[in-house]
Amino acid sequence: MSEFLQRPASDALPTPQEDPAGAGGSRRKVFIKSYGCQMNAYDAQKMADLLAPEGFDETAGPDDADLVILNTCHIRERAAEKVFSELGKLRQTKAERAAGGLATKIVVAGCVAQAEGAEIRRREKAVDLVVGPQSYHHLPDLLRSGAGTLGVDTEFPIEDKFDHLVNASRERVRQRGPAAFLTIQEGCDKFCSFCVVPYTRGAEMSRPVTAIRAEALELAQGGVRELVLLGQNVNAYHGEGPDGRVWSLAKLCAELAEVPGIARLRYTTSHPNDMDADLIAAHRDLPQLMPFLHLPVQSGSDAVLSAMNRKHKASAYRDLIAQIRKARPDIALSSDFIVGFPGESEADFEATLELIRDVGFAAAFSFKYSPRPGTPAAEAAGQVDEAEKRERLARLQDLVEGQRQAFNRAMVGRTVDVLFEKKGRHAGQIAGKSPYLQAVQIDAPEHLIGEVLPVEIIGVGANSLFGRRTLAAGVLEVRA
Ligand code: SAH
Ligand code: SF4
Ligand code: F3S
Repeated sequence: MSEFLQRPASDALPTPQEDPAGAGGSRRKVFIKSYGCQMNAYDAQKMADLLAPEGFDETAGPDDADLVILNTCHIRERAAEKVFSELGKLRQTKAERAAGGLATKIVVAGCVAQAEGAEIRRREKAVDLVVGPQSYHHLPDLLRSGAGTLGVDTEFPIEDKFDHLVNASRERVRQRGPAAFLTIQEGCDKFCSFCVVPYTRGAEMSRPVTAIRAEALELAQGGVRELVLLGQNVNAYHGEGPDGRVWSLAKLCAELAEVPGIARLRYTTSHPNDMDADLIAAHRDLPQLMPFLHLPVQSGSDAVLSAMNRKHKASAYRDLIAQIRKARPDIALSSDFIVGFPGESEADFEATLELIRDVGFAAAFSFKYSPRPGTPAAEAAGQVDEAEKRERLARLQDLVEGQRQAFNRAMVGRTVDVLFEKKGRHAGQIAGKSPYLQAVQIDAPEHLIGEVLPVEIIGVGANSLFGRRTLAAGVLEVRA
């Protein structure tokens, strides 16, 4: 018997039988607004999945919502500020609905909830409940138990929230489209000196392989073709395998590539120090693993990298990229950059530009350093002037934008496989992603959504490529 079948049932997320009338009443509406990273987006989906059997259907805005959940992000000051301005608006909506005899519950979830839960409750009385990213599985109980017990639930619990989550119904999986997020790892032990994540998400943990595989199977059976494996430090994955050993991300990818229907795998976000030889080899050996890697470096200056506590030098990043390109020559790279970190001189910043010129990125996210309360860098000497940060950011973004456009232009005339995910911008178009994570639009009928098709790229727009199908009936068989 397969060892997968011997695992305790709690490893697999149950699929809810959605009670059409909810838990004993008529169905209600929930509006969930998610900010921040893809892991927050995954959590938002899981909240919706948890609430569906409780009688909640999702709605697109707060006006008709009986329950509003803000799933917040604390990574930069601007992100955290949005919560309070959004709550101001929600307070009004709640009052207007109350005047019409309708009750509204407001929940703040996510990383701001974790970091500033008590403050939120103090500043914004309209908030009924605050739940942290490791506690949201308590939502149904907390909501059911009524206003008396509402409050702040931001403990890092001993229990594993994943044991309490439920799979989405098949219908819901289908609605979400053929590319799906799957969180395999959470938390971070790296403590980069600028970053709040280790404080908001807690210590690193990896889900067991059997639980991940069960969720992947469920998703595939609902029509998912691409899994995006998520973790704050996804390549630090070290989950328990069905053989009782610790499995690496490379091994997990090989396992998930075997799930029937799964044609593509991606993972994000990685740390350079956790890119091991097996994972690099997987980019050579595993056709399902897409040739796109988001590998944040933050800075090209050794002094800044050291002050950031990134624990590697710029040369190590360059060497790593060379190894990865040797394994998979066509791999497209992306990164995150922070400009204006405390102590960053013009020469340090130039070193970052030089690294960008040397490596060549297909995409990049870049940010002005934002001092975050409780992180060591916020207290550091040499805080960089805001105008200087703005100017450096513009220079850096010019450079990477040029690289991105050149990378996209070089696709013209090439034929690439595209996984079609949704209707296109215009009638008669469908849209999908190239292996290199570029958005691609073609004229084709909607029934091809969910297929991986070869597409010849014939043009480049600002944010997407345009293509045409190369075969009249070119529906490729999945490689899995
Ligand atoms: N775990 C990932 C990144 C998580 S946060 C990693 O190790 O790279 C996403 C990005 O936000 C980071 O890569 C960083 O570029 C940016 N970021 C994090 N904290 C920041 C801060 N205080 N100010 C500006 N940007 C920040
Ligand atoms: Fe934050 Fe660093 Fe952890 Fe990434 S590795 S989540 S930047 S502390
Ligand atoms: Fe933001 Fe939390 Fe993600 S701080 S980036 S939502 S881990």
